[in-house]
Amino acid sequence: MGRMGKEFLLLLVTAAIAPASVVASAQDIAAIIDDCESCHGRGGASAWKDIPVIGGMSAFYLDAQLHAYQDGYRPCGEVEYPAGPERGLVGDMCEAVDGLDATQIAAIADYFAEQVFIVPDQQADRQLAEQGEELHERLCAKCHSEGGGLAFDDAGILAGQWRGYLQQSFRQFRAGERWQPEKMAPTVEQLDDRDVEALVEFYVTRAPVE
Ligand code: HEC
Ligand code: HEC
Repeated sequence: MGRMGKEFLLLLVTAAIAPASVVASAQDIAAIIDDCESCHGRGGASAWKDIPVIGGMSAFYLDAQLHAYQDGYRPCGEVEYPAGPERGLVGDMCEAVDGLDATQIAAIADYFAEQVFIVPDQQADRQLAEQGEELHERLCAKCHSEGGGLAFDDAGILAGQWRGYLQQSFRQFRAGERWQPEKMAPTVEQLDDRDVEALVEFYVTRAPVE
């Protein structure tokens, strides 16, 4: 199937549900996506190191994260809008999902899931990455297959993600600030600072599988 554009999404949503109020809600969704893309880049291909690439992650994962921000299971880090009409103003994920209903969240998750994960250009420490690979295979690969590069695992996409965002995620997991699956916690608890650095370098050298 081709990549879903915003116009096509609008059509789909409009056709699926029906009359006048629905046209308005489809336009709302397009406007919300514009807001997301002001930070995450077109199609979720963020060009900014503190903002994760989200295009191409699974709809299930994206939907769950948006609810997690809304319900307070995930902390929201403030960041300046790098582009768009609010460029330079401070915003965060809690604000971005505030007031969205479950139908809107599902439509937005579908849209970003249909996009391609564009790997940003980052330098990596190859030697450290090799140590990271060993740790990954031993502790993480059973849930994050293909080097953390398979959207279908419904566990985000680690492969090719921005280093700054990966580091922040580990800080939040280790500090208990972000919810993690019950069976992931004991693996993360085993890691020391050096292990985390090595894993991050490993993911930075990888790319998602299509
Ligand atoms: C003001 C900038 C900004 C806006 C607007 C914004 N985001 Fe984010 N988003 C971020 C930042 C920064 C992070 C990572 C830090 C955090 O968790 O707060 C993030 C994290 C995420 C994540 C988690 C990614 C992962 O791998 O778990 C998802 C999903 C996401 N955003 C989707 C969206 C969607 C959908 C919208 C629009 C409804 C949106 N964002 C609007 C800045 C923004
Ligand atoms: C039992 C399965 C399991 C194991 C083992 C596991 N994870 Fe996870 N991981 C998940 C799931 C599921 C998620 C998505 C959680 C959510 O929905 O919030 C996740 C999320 C993550 C994220 C956040 C992704 C993002 O886009 O923000 C990172 C980083 C991560 N895991 C790293 C690791 C590392 C490193 C290891 C090994 C030390 C590991 N995980 C072991 C299942 C696992």
